[in-house]
Amino acid sequence: MSNRSLRLLPFLAAAALAVWLLPPHLARATSAGGSPTAEVASMDQAVQQGAEIFASDKFGGVRTCATCHSNGGRTEGTLPGGGHIPSLMGVAALFPKFVPQKHRVITLEQQLAHCIQGGIQGKPPASDSPEMVDLIAYLTSLSKGAVMGTQFK
Ligand code: HEC
Repeated sequence: MSNRSLRLLPFLAAAALAVWLLPPHLARATSAGGSPTAEVASMDQAVQQGAEIFASDKFGGVRTCATCHSNGGRTEGTLPGGGHIPSLMGVAALFPKFVPQKHRVITLEQQLAHCIQGGIQGKPPASDSPEMVDLIAYLTSLSKGAVMGTQFK
């Protein structure tokens, strides 16, 4: 390494430290490849955005969440083939959920990715994306007061 680049080292270290110390929301906005972060001022706002995403065609594909989960997910339904569509009231409290057929424990995010891929036939967003966070906030609001852990006998 030349003397010249050695002299630059303290500045590079300081710059790296400054990036590391940025508040997370600013760091997110500067990270490469991520979608722009929709800033939310409150949980209520995240829930509101989640409700809008629930009924939007944001993920591409042929359906929205609301196509199958009617009344904002508050009412159960039936698939055209006869399969049961559960109500989403209280459902957030059932996750993480054990799926015996697959011997797996799935998170609510993984469940949504499954519904987006299979049901909507769209592209699931990353678990930490603003869209996923807002959907989770919305579903959690439908579980207000639900008792957690009832899946454990
Ligand atoms: C094609 C219809 C369809 C679409 C579209 C769909 N779902 Fe589902 N969803 C289902 C069915 C059927 C189940 C139950 C079986 C399963 O998990 O696959 C389910 C299960 C769920 C569950 C778990 C419920 C439980 O009791 O464990 C959640 C949460 C959920 N969906 C949320 C969503 C969200 C959010 C979207 C949109 C991003 C969405 N779904 C899109 C049909 C759909």
